Amino acid sequence: MTDTSSKPILILGGTGKTGRRLAERLTAKDVPVRIGSRSGSPRFDWEVPATWGLAMQGVGAIYISYYPDIAVPGAAETVGAFARLAVANGVTRLVLLSGRGETEAQRAEEMVKASGADWTILRCAWFSQNFSEGFLVESLLGGEVALPVGNVGEPFIDADDIADAAFVALTEPGHVGQLYELTGPRLLSFADAVAEIAKAAGRDIRYIKVSHDEFAAAMAAHELPPEITWLLNELFTEVLDGRNEALTDGVQRVLGRAPKDFSAYANETAATGIWSN
Ligand SMILES: NC(=O)c1ccc[n+]([C@@H]2O[C@H](COP(=O)([O-])OP(=O)(O)OC[C@H]3O[C@@H](n4cnc5c(N)ncnc54)[C@H](OP(=O)(O)O)[C@@H]3O)[C@@H](O)[C@H]2O)c1
Repeated sequence: MTDTSSKPILILGGTGKTGRRLAERLTAKDVPVRIGSRSGSPRFDWEVPATWGLAMQGVGAIYISYYPDIAVPGAAETVGAFARLAVANGVTRLVLLSGRGETEAQRAEEMVKASGADWTILRCAWFSQNFSEGFLVESLLGGEVALPVGNVGEPFIDADDIADAAFVALTEPGHVGQLYELTGPRLLSFADAVAEIAKAAGRDIRYIKVSHDEFAAAMAAHELPPEITWLLNELFTEVLDGRNEALTDGVQRVLGRAPKDFSAYANETAATGIWSN
């Protein structure tokens, strides 16, 4: 179990999709948290290793959410170096947010395991919140989502379930040395997911499968940062090839309940008005 009696839990990416939700859950239970991000205090920046040591001073455990993505080349070395520094500083309880079917993510997991930490790995499917807090919001608002992926099923996982899993792993005994593969309860194609969102939002939103060249041209027109362009290309050409078309019992194992269905996510999120224009 994590030493949460007095020491804060450092949440890397603590203002992001999963980190923000984890911070809310810990704070609600009076567990002190420290946000690890460029806007945190002390500041934490993955690109400036000199900031890492100060951010982890005096903390009891760390939630590691890498930025921009654990699938990018070099992520494993960076996460590994961070984990070894944490262990050297006496912070051994680490919970890593990872991705499924990604060579670099699985390498990062191995680095964390080899660091000597008391690790837990949350190896996650695509987040449902990519449609509401990520790069797909703009397309949904525009009424058309165009991606280079066809009838491949993805078991979208809700960020609330990931945060619940991280909360339990960090505050309850029995999770050290466990790898939880977290998926939602149903495989949906991207066309299915967009259709569910359109229905929930009461809007007409089209899904079109485009070629990789068309997708690359659209990304170039948006002038995305090169690492994001690389990442999207990698995800849509490599990872979404059917290798992740399987449901797991990870949420059930860690939380003792079923994961949230995509339709519940779509209905709840539509009610916030984020997809209304
Ligand atoms: N999205 C998915 O479907 C999916 C699926 C599986 C795994 N994952 C993994 O999940 C991780 C992302 O987690 P998330 O979606 O919860 O986070 P996120 O929403 O991408 O949030 C980004 C966070 O990182 C911080 N950040 C940005 N640049 C930073 C830097 N240079 N140094 C330190 N912090 C920085 C941001 O805060 P500041 O701006 O204040 O710095 C923010 O707190 C990635 O490693 C990804 O591979 C994602």
